[in-house]
Amino acid sequence: MKSEYSKLNRQHLDDFKNIVGEQYVFADEESLNKYGQDQTENLLYLPEVVIKPRTAEEISAIMKICDQDKIPVTPRGAGTGLSGGALPHLGGVLLSTERMNTILHIDERNLQVTTEPGVITEVLMDAVKEKKLFYPPDPSSRGSCFIGGNIAENSGGPKAVKYGVVKDYVLNLEMVLPSGEIIWTGANVLKNSTGYNLTQLTVGSEGTLGIVTKIVLKLIPLPQFDLLMLVPFRNLDQAAEAVSAIFRAGFVPSAMELVEIDALKIVSKFVDSNAVPITDDTAAHLIIEVDGNNLDVLMQDMEAISNLLTQYDIGEIYFAEDAAQKAELWKLRKRVAEAVKVVGYTIEEDTVVPRAELPALIKGVKSLGQKHQFEVVCYGHAGDGNLHIRIKKDGIPNSHGNKIMTEALHELFVLVKTLGGTISGEHGIGLIQKPYMEVIFQEANLRIMNGIKNTFDPNNILNPGKIFDYNK
Ligand code: LAC
Ligand code: ZN
Repeated sequence: MKSEYSKLNRQHLDDFKNIVGEQYVFADEESLNKYGQDQTENLLYLPEVVIKPRTAEEISAIMKICDQDKIPVTPRGAGTGLSGGALPHLGGVLLSTERMNTILHIDERNLQVTTEPGVITEVLMDAVKEKKLFYPPDPSSRGSCFIGGNIAENSGGPKAVKYGVVKDYVLNLEMVLPSGEIIWTGANVLKNSTGYNLTQLTVGSEGTLGIVTKIVLKLIPLPQFDLLMLVPFRNLDQAAEAVSAIFRAGFVPSAMELVEIDALKIVSKFVDSNAVPITDDTAAHLIIEVDGNNLDVLMQDMEAISNLLTQYDIGEIYFAEDAAQKAELWKLRKRVAEAVKVVGYTIEEDTVVPRAELPALIKGVKSLGQKHQFEVVCYGHAGDGNLHIRIKKDGIPNSHGNKIMTEALHELFVLVKTLGGTISGEHGIGLIQKPYMEVIFQEANLRIMNGIKNTFDPNNILNPGKIFDYNK
């Protein structure tokens, strides 16, 4: 089949160099390799060129050329994605936002921050923290991912269970459309009923509608205290059941994470930590955090939650005593994905179900693993019903393009759908979950999405072939 896209020529490269400066256009093998992969499975697709613009105007000029000549453009943040959203699978231009890395304004009067997309999420969180302000969405990769990528994926993280996800903090976005036009999607206000909500449509659109160049985020006052505990369960099903029981009893923890024992063993070894004693009879841990401004209340909550959990078959609860112990625990949790990938769990799913269905999901996942003979380890944001499922099958490092894994995953997503859930809670659909969209959606849903893509990007040049395959 003849590609609908043009290959880059000498003239294109010269034009791009004129726009951003020669030193920011890369076509050497090392750069193409580096920007041809992200954190998704073991996939690699080489772009034809990597461009690092500094301004929206430069991006606009690049987009005009690509739109006119039908060249695919793949926007990229820090490349920490897990669904292949930043993989340039059709070649073309890889557009990195890494030079757009300035926090433009922290508005302490209105509790807002305006930032460029290439700022590392943790840098942004720390900058507002200095002003006693809080930007809660904290993906595990926050030390390296970019805020722009978080907007693209509508990321979450452990704090989402109490504070919500990225979409709940985005007020307004500046973005460059595939046509090269530059727009603001909304206004810097907390309420907005003015027409279709282009801001929220853009959040989670995985760089398929426009390239976000400025971001206005809502901030909240920083809670003064937090307490953290780790609860070992002898039985995985009970750990999953306890999650919804805690909410039913009236508590809203600021984190409620589940880590299966195999994941904890692997990550403890990976970061060389013995912070958590691993006993033979433990099946999984719940990590439970509460936060707020009244330490006495938090202590009472922790005690009440621990008491509630004594009805389950649990071991000795570990309470993190100081900031260093909390940091050590969170380090273990945050690095699970990286650690399990190194030992061969290269395939990651991001299923989400209504919270109380978590035990049924875990049971189903384990029996699918047995049926299809893959090893599986679960962890993730149990409080949100958002389960990360890591899969290892010898000789099959990628689900993408593999018939056996695709069939198995299809079955998994049918189960998820039956439980009232969906494919991705925070990692996005990108390239690799695309085949399963029809499990979740009716034809009409996909037709509407196709129409939206058509309105923004009629020539299908911006991150084409992501989320779904566009039909003219
Ligand atoms: C995590 C990432 C993989 O929760 O979402 O660690
Ligand atoms: Zn996660």
